Amino acid sequence: MKEYQQKNVSDINLEDYLGEYEGLQATVRDMLFDRGRKKESLNGRWHFAVDQYDTCIRQHWFEERRFDAKGNTVPVDYSFDEWPVMDLPCCWNTQSEAFSLYEGSMVFARTFRYAAEKRERVFLKIGAANYICRVFLNKKYLGMHRGGSTPAYFEVTDALEAENRILIQADSTRRPEQVPTENTDWFNYGGVYRDIELIRVPEVFIRRFQIALVPDGMFGKIRVRAQISEPRAAEAVLTVPELGIRETFSLTDGMGETVFAAAPELWSPEHPKLYDVRLAVGEDSVQDSVGFREVRVRGRDILLNGKPVFLRGISCHEESVRGGKALSDEERMENIRLAKELGCNFMRVAHYPHDEKMAQLADREGILLWEEIPVYWAIRFAREETYRDAENQLLEMIARDWNRASVIIWSVGNENADSDARLAFMTRLARRAHATDDTRLVSAACLVSFQEMAIADRLAAELDVIGINEYFGWYVPDFSLLPRLFENSSPDKPVIVTEFGADAMPGHHGTVHDKGTEECQAYVFEKQVETLRGIEYVKGMTPWILYDFRCPRRTSAIQGYYNRKGLLSPDKRYKKPAFFILQDYYRELQHWWEQQ
Ligand code: GCU
Repeated sequence: MKEYQQKNVSDINLEDYLGEYEGLQATVRDMLFDRGRKKESLNGRWHFAVDQYDTCIRQHWFEERRFDAKGNTVPVDYSFDEWPVMDLPCCWNTQSEAFSLYEGSMVFARTFRYAAEKRERVFLKIGAANYICRVFLNKKYLGMHRGGSTPAYFEVTDALEAENRILIQADSTRRPEQVPTENTDWFNYGGVYRDIELIRVPEVFIRRFQIALVPDGMFGKIRVRAQISEPRAAEAVLTVPELGIRETFSLTDGMGETVFAAAPELWSPEHPKLYDVRLAVGEDSVQDSVGFREVRVRGRDILLNGKPVFLRGISCHEESVRGGKALSDEERMENIRLAKELGCNFMRVAHYPHDEKMAQLADREGILLWEEIPVYWAIRFAREETYRDAENQLLEMIARDWNRASVIIWSVGNENADSDARLAFMTRLARRAHATDDTRLVSAACLVSFQEMAIADRLAAELDVIGINEYFGWYVPDFSLLPRLFENSSPDKPVIVTEFGADAMPGHHGTVHDKGTEECQAYVFEKQVETLRGIEYVKGMTPWILYDFRCPRRTSAIQGYYNRKGLLSPDKRYKKPAFFILQDYYRELQHWWEQQ
């Protein structure tokens, strides 16, 4: 463990300190497969302090140096066990008026007991912390994680004692070089806002477990890939009891794969059939509950299990009615139920990876998902470290949700103007996604070209499906341009209209031309549907957005710091008229597609 020399606080700036802490970054390489494993929760009461000047880093609070070299006590500027407490996971913005707009660092501290059960290795998992988190255990710096929506895993085996003190510093500062940058259209919630857990594994454990239908259009073979923690030979056993499957295969240098014949009932939104699967290697075993399905593109069609589908979708942020991003399972279920009530078979969970429980629920309830990394608006496309941050978030999202049947599309970003640097950056991401996962489609929500009034994003060549955000009738008042956009375009692959919509303050009324009224929003949806229904290569849509959400950029009288493009009010109790317009269209679409 790298020893840090106490430096004179006054003579170096934070960047020098932070430099010390960037080296031990937890990334996708540190992830381990944890489905079906016993987990010990560290959720609950954590002491905390608002650390606006990052003094925990500057003064190495975590070393708890209370005595000088001569044994004299020295003053300290912290008192972990006397600090107030906050129930984690949560977003601190929702915990008190004083923190509602706070952006910066907070330090969380607690103790916990540990007793080894056998020769084992132990990992700490932080489900998500926005944006950077740094972890200290028993006075040692374990490492940091960058990215506000994907999990971080830290091995703690060698740092554990019977009584343990753990500190997590979470830093929600928005920065231009981060992913996303300092400018987005959603609220920047801070905190450690998904589960915090200890996971015990054998000394040699299963790090990766991927299982899926072989995407060959035959629906008759399953492929399993496994990787263990050590580069050694081993034997793996895969069982799917309900299918009477038990497959043994060898791992070489710690990795291996097998393909075998199988005839599972295929998973779909209409028939979300899941199978319990188990992988055992040596002393370790993991389980999962998976659906077997195939998604692919053929010409301008999207095929699910060989059959053309239309993705009747809706976009959705990860925001609780109580504020914050720490949704309960009941809230996630409500979002899925509302989407299904709308007539959806598809959701775009925007603009960042939502909690892993969302895809698990979508598998069980039967709804397809578009998942996305927050490469959003004007990213620092020319900066290599920014690319590595974006790529790591992409790979962590893919690794986390690899076995989820509901996830059919990985999106590498949203609404970035078409420049050479952006094309290079997003092309790398799209190719990385394709190389990592051949069982899903890769897309992005692209801008349309107003010069050509056409779908002309150069990135489209790298995508399986082209997403387009278009706000005709709202930001672009002239609706007559919408049909022209499609007349001028001739994509050779399916298009999903990933955003259209209009703000409407619930209960605010006027004419269809009065921006911000329910009548205007309903009219926009009517006109959009009228045009889109006739476009042969549009094979899906995810209008913006299921419910109103908090947004610091939206300050007009009807917005009140909310983006009001929701089809429902922020508390999801009130459906605006546009909800029913889309619902009627989706019912008509579903009926038509069922006749095909
Ligand atoms: C953009 C963006 C959304 C945003 C929306 C809007 O397309 O992708 O994140 O909220 O437009 O302007 O409401």
